[in-house]
Amino acid sequence: MSGPEDHGHGSAGPPSLEDPTDGEVHELQDSHWFEDRHLFEDRHWFEDIADHLGPAYLRYSFTMGTDQEIGFLYDVLGLGEGSRVLDVGCGPGRHAVALARRGVEVVGVDISERFVEVAEDVAVREGLSHLATFERADARAMVGDPRFDTGAGARPFDAAISLCQGAFGLGGPPDVGDPQNLAADAAVLGGILAALRPGGRCAVSAFSSYFQVRWLEDGDAFDAAGGVNHERTELRDLDGVRTEADLWTTCYTPRELRLLAERCGLAVDHLWSVTPGGYSMEPPTVTTHEFLLVARRPPA
Ligand SMILES: C[S@@+](CC[C@H](N)C(=O)[O-])C[C@H]1O[C@@H](n2cnc3c(N)ncnc32)[C@H](O)[C@@H]1O
Repeated sequence: MSGPEDHGHGSAGPPSLEDPTDGEVHELQDSHWFEDRHLFEDRHWFEDIADHLGPAYLRYSFTMGTDQEIGFLYDVLGLGEGSRVLDVGCGPGRHAVALARRGVEVVGVDISERFVEVAEDVAVREGLSHLATFERADARAMVGDPRFDTGAGARPFDAAISLCQGAFGLGGPPDVGDPQNLAADAAVLGGILAALRPGGRCAVSAFSSYFQVRWLEDGDAFDAAGGVNHERTELRDLDGVRTEADLWTTCYTPRELRLLAERCGLAVDHLWSVTPGGYSMEPPTVTTHEFLLVARRPPA
């Protein structure tokens, strides 16, 4: 996952959670990638992280650029008051709430119960719970779920976001049944496609393989076949209580992102290099933390 204290805030370095600064869809689902998979059944490894961090997640510096990111995406995704947005892997709801402040209706989905609770609390505190609502669900299993899948009765979404490795890129260690580590992320993109109205756009950020390998630190283990970086990191909750956790981040090159999105039935509009709090239309580089994929559901 992305999450360095210096993530997009000047100094270069590897990602880390340490030290906070205070139709085609169904075809894909039926393919061999999704057969007999245990992948989606167990408790997700991120849930322990969310349970420990709770609201302390919002103290990491990479979360400080929310307003800039939403300001940029509001225009790029063609949003307006009354638009309906799906926030995939919404975490404690920082983007969802920022969109709701602009009059956008948002459904946030996250697998971590603790983060869903935090998100709901923030929305209630800001008087935005009529616009920002949250569901605990596995983003790899949105296809067929009537809360998200338009084919299963969900009200279509005008746009979807999955930011800062919001489920996408958090599939975990390379899986025996999925040595290229593609199934989890393909399932997330398939769910996004199923949620969008025809022509609806999505913005998905992914950690850069180029950046990750360039700034590989002692203790990082980058699996070249699967593109997954493993690190062990220390987490601190609001009271300063420490624990250690494993993090697995699936990293991408722009070309891989494009190929996967197209394989999932999305039409790719843009691929940009971005940093948290520094979203812009910069073409892909090897020196920025993340890539931002902007794609749309093709017209029916
Ligand atoms: C690094 S946080 C990003 C949160 C938020 N998008 C942000 O920008 O702050 C990753 C989030 O993805 C969630 N997540 C990971 N895998 C998921 C899955 N399969 N389904 C739903 N949420 C998932 C985690 O629980 C966590 O809240």
